[in-house]
Amino acid sequence: MEDKKLFNPEGNDNIQVRKMIGGNPTNLFNLNNVKYKWANKLYRIMMENFWIPEKIPLHDDSRYYNEMTAAERKAYDGILSFLVFLDSIQTNNLPNINDFITAPEVNLILSIQTYQEAIHSQSYAYIIESIIPAERREVIYDQWRTDKILFERNKYIAQIYQDFVDDESDRNFARVIIANFLLEGVYFYNGFNFFYDLASRNLMLGTANEIKYINRDELTHCVLFANMIKEIRKEKPDFFNDEDIYEMFRVAVDQEIEWSKHIIGDAILGMNEKSIEAYTKFIANKRLRELGMNPMYEGFDVNPYKHLEKIADTHGQGDTKGNFLETTVSAYNQSSAVSGWDDF
Ligand SMILES: [Fe+2]
Ligand SMILES: [Fe+2]
Repeated sequence: MEDKKLFNPEGNDNIQVRKMIGGNPTNLFNLNNVKYKWANKLYRIMMENFWIPEKIPLHDDSRYYNEMTAAERKAYDGILSFLVFLDSIQTNNLPNINDFITAPEVNLILSIQTYQEAIHSQSYAYIIESIIPAERREVIYDQWRTDKILFERNKYIAQIYQDFVDDESDRNFARVIIANFLLEGVYFYNGFNFFYDLASRNLMLGTANEIKYINRDELTHCVLFANMIKEIRKEKPDFFNDEDIYEMFRVAVDQEIEWSKHIIGDAILGMNEKSIEAYTKFIANKRLRELGMNPMYEGFDVNPYKHLEKIADTHGQGDTKGNFLETTVSAYNQSSAVSGWDDF
């Protein structure tokens, strides 16, 4: 694949010839003239999601951290470590993808996504600094290298990202896009549910609030990548290989189950090895349907953590995950929250 020319006066921005990949844009943001209308809608939703991690108080969580069981603390630390890695690599890798997307309206929201991943990375710094005792902090930042199971699963996705950086072939790009969708759509959610599970027992409520904001952003990223994949498929029907996609899902699901069993296991009230497997296969089926593909895990169509959806709900209106695109998010806009300009 060839990346876009940055200065391209010979480009053609006509929406009749615009393509998701392989087009010839001038790179001018004429956002009054867009082909992919869903991108405008998503831009609005993503911008309305603006939030500031420090606006959520974590004092109580810092006191309750030591009241959790040893198993809960192990899961809490390990999941944080995993999330730090995921959002770090997302922040760094999204511009690599954006360089090859030839629709300005989509370039715009990929930039917003990159910025949101940076906020997520910073939110973990705030959580870790506020809650985790000083001597444990570096252990959490380093766990992605020291924990073999965590390392292997991070390596799987990161190597796919790295392969495209090293060799910008069509196949490597197709794999990077699917890997991104898997990261956004499957990898986060056992971890998110762990925090909602704690919150359902009145534990670590501040952390769960941080996670809700992150979760809300991640759902828009899922929609973005699902739409990009579907548009590319329409424009280039052979670009993605279904067998490759199913194989990547299978590896991702197996690793997610292995990791979640390793870090959560059977020692946490409200979660166990069976629910971990059922949830992971359920969410993978759901994501495959979002791509317009057949689910691959027969009999896994019920969310075993349905009762946690109320906690994850950032709108107080029932099933956030199902309805978020239709609901208003204005109540969560924190854009007037910045203070401290005098220091500059
Ligand atoms: Fe993120
Ligand atoms: Fe994301």
